[in-house]
Amino acid sequence: MITETNSPENNKPAKKTIFSGVQPSGNLTIGNYLGAIKNWTVLQDEYNCIYCVVDMHAITVRQVPADLRRRTYETLALYIAAGLDPKSNILFVQSHVPAHAVLSWDLGCFTMYGELGRMTQFKDKSRKNADNINAGLFTYPVLMAADILLYQTDLVPVGIDQRQHLELARDIAIRFNNLYSPTFTVPEGYIPETGMKIMSLADPTKKMSKSDSNPNASVGILDSRDVIISKMRRAVTDSGSEVRYGEGKDGINNLINIYCCFTGKTREETEKEFEGKGYGEFKAAVGETVADGLSSLREEYSKLIGDKQYLDEIMRSGAEKAAAIARKTITKVHRKIGYVSL
Ligand code: TRP
Repeated sequence: MITETNSPENNKPAKKTIFSGVQPSGNLTIGNYLGAIKNWTVLQDEYNCIYCVVDMHAITVRQVPADLRRRTYETLALYIAAGLDPKSNILFVQSHVPAHAVLSWDLGCFTMYGELGRMTQFKDKSRKNADNINAGLFTYPVLMAADILLYQTDLVPVGIDQRQHLELARDIAIRFNNLYSPTFTVPEGYIPETGMKIMSLADPTKKMSKSDSNPNASVGILDSRDVIISKMRRAVTDSGSEVRYGEGKDGINNLINIYCCFTGKTREETEKEFEGKGYGEFKAAVGETVADGLSSLREEYSKLIGDKQYLDEIMRSGAEKAAAIARKTITKVHRKIGYVSL
């Protein structure tokens, strides 16, 4: 034990802190919206919320520079269009706060090679990007741990696919705290009551992903009305015809879930509504509902995306607020490690 007493609770705000991030690496889907961003909007009063556009994570796979830049703006605009108020949440871009890279290095020295090698997402992505298994892809979870631990985060709303990374962040925090003295808040996962895992429309056993190469697998938040309706019409379902939730009916279950999220109806209500009607009619209704449900968001988004100056301001002020919190953690960590402070 290397002693130096300092409680991580020292300069903690009264409200609990929530941190989460989305990569600007593809067009955001209704999966991102229903599974994450939409649920974040209900947390903004009760918690101290920090949402990051994690552009540094995105470059672990090759990105076209102009696309990365455009998507970074788009992701921020979507956060705001979806209802995240930049005044009550800290919204910022990861690369604007260098403390993420700094802490990531430090924490990397407290993370084991074997731990990183066990990460299923690393194994997955190495398979998919066999020609570019770079060190960043390997140390990706360390950067994610830095994101979380920098802000003394209490709760991290993440999907099931990020659970293993969160668990690693906890292990790293506990390890560091034990080796030195309490420094980091040990974060917990947070599953919002209304959270929903939306599956691919082409293969409903897989999660809907913005990086899916099949364009019909996902509905983009910004897809046009016609595109949404046509993708829903083509959604893969089983050979049955009754709109009923049930085992082995992943496709129809997924569409029922999507419908419920947008209408606020329960599964039973939905089944009742479509009793005696076939899949075709149901799919058309889901398409209409999703298109309607996204229309005000899309309108708000188009206003925002045209106003780069406003978005730049949000990025700048978000980065300043984030950096101020991050600096406290970095100072503490560096003192404990034994770096000379000037
Ligand atoms: N790895 C996450 C994903 O791909 C994104 C992410 C980066 C994140 N840093 C984070 C999520 C910190 C939560 C907290 O979905």
